[in-house]
Order: sequence, then structure tokens, then C-alpha cells
Amino acid sequence: MVYPTREEALALLEWAHGLNPGPWREHSLGVARAGEKIAEALGLDADRAWINGCMHDIGRFEGPRGMHHVIAGYDLCVEKGWDGPARACMVHSFPNKDFEGYTGAHDVSAEEEARIRAFIAGCAFDDYDRLVQLGDAISWGDGVCLMEKRLVNVVMRYNDMGPRTLDKWRAWFAIKEDFERRMGRSLYSLFPEAAENTLG
Ligand SMILES: [Fe+2]
Repeated sequence: MVYPTREEALALLEWAHGLNPGPWREHSLGVARAGEKIAEALGLDADRAWINGCMHDIGRFEGPRGMHHVIAGYDLCVEKGWDGPARACMVHSFPNKDFEGYTGAHDVSAEEEARIRAFIAGCAFDDYDRLVQLGDAISWGDGVCLMEKRLVNVVMRYNDMGPRTLDKWRAWFAIKEDFERRMGRSLYSLFPEAAENTLG
């Protein structure tokens, strides 16, 4: 898979944030850092994890959109020739491959919906997909908090606690548990800021 350098990824994030300023830039850097740290602990490629995290929400360059940021980010990365982060844009919101379970507006055309569904259905999630999915679920600003806090915050912010939400939460917990088993330590032991971000 083709990836940009960290510098290229950061430059694109800054460009996108200039078009649509907001807390999503800091969030992207938080997901990048979380992915990098967990990748290091698992013996995976930390650069690849960082770049995926940095780029996963790049579709937000379009402005405040819902699901459309997924396909917008994918198309932007493909246009650049970067199929690695393109995949991160597409998979990050679907930890259990449930299109309907997306939290937020389903603001995509029928054609875009078909593309997202086909991509997710045909994707055998690997550790890098799971890193960006998990990173998105534990990031608090540019740091990490208890996953439960982040998940509750998202559904409250979008006012979208649907019947499929619990299954999605279970998928995130399963990723966390698998990584913790393989690391032989708690996820939060990698992130000293997690206690303050959770309780503060
Ligand atoms: Fe996103």
C-alpha cells in the first residue's frame, strides 16, 4: 500500500483544517498518537499507524458533514495516490462493518452509499484498520481517555443512540481486549494522561 510521509500527511491535515477549522485537527493528531503508541507496543509499523490516524478524518476539509466525510477523505487520498490512508478514511467509522450503525447524518448519495457498503463488505480488517478504529474511540482532544467516556460523548453529541449502537460498542471493546491480550498490559498504561482526561 502507498503511504505519504508524516510530513506530507501533516501538511494535508493543515490544508484541510484551514478550509474547515475545528477540534477535528487536534482529534486527528490524538488518533495518530494513540495508533503510534499501540503499534509500538504491538511491534507494528508505528509510522503507518500515525499516518492513518492523522488522515482518517481528512474528508472534513469539505466542511461540517456526517458520513460524507468518509467518502470525501477516501476520494481525496486516492486522488493523491495514497491507498493506505484512503482505506483508513473508509474503515474508521465501521468497526463492525455496519453501515446503518453509523453515528451521525447519513448524508451520502445512493451511489456513494453503494461504494461505501461494497468497500467495507469486501475489506478483511487488519491490525492497521483496527488501530485507527480503536484510536478514534479512545481519543480525547489530542490525548486518550477511558473508551466508555468517549463513546458516551459521541452518542450524546450526535443525539444518536440507535438500536445498533451497542453492537458497535462491543466491536470496539473486542478490539481493545485483543490488543491488550497481545500487549500483555492495559491499554491505558500506555497513556498517562488517560486518568486526568477521564476524571478531570
Ligand atoms: Fe471520522
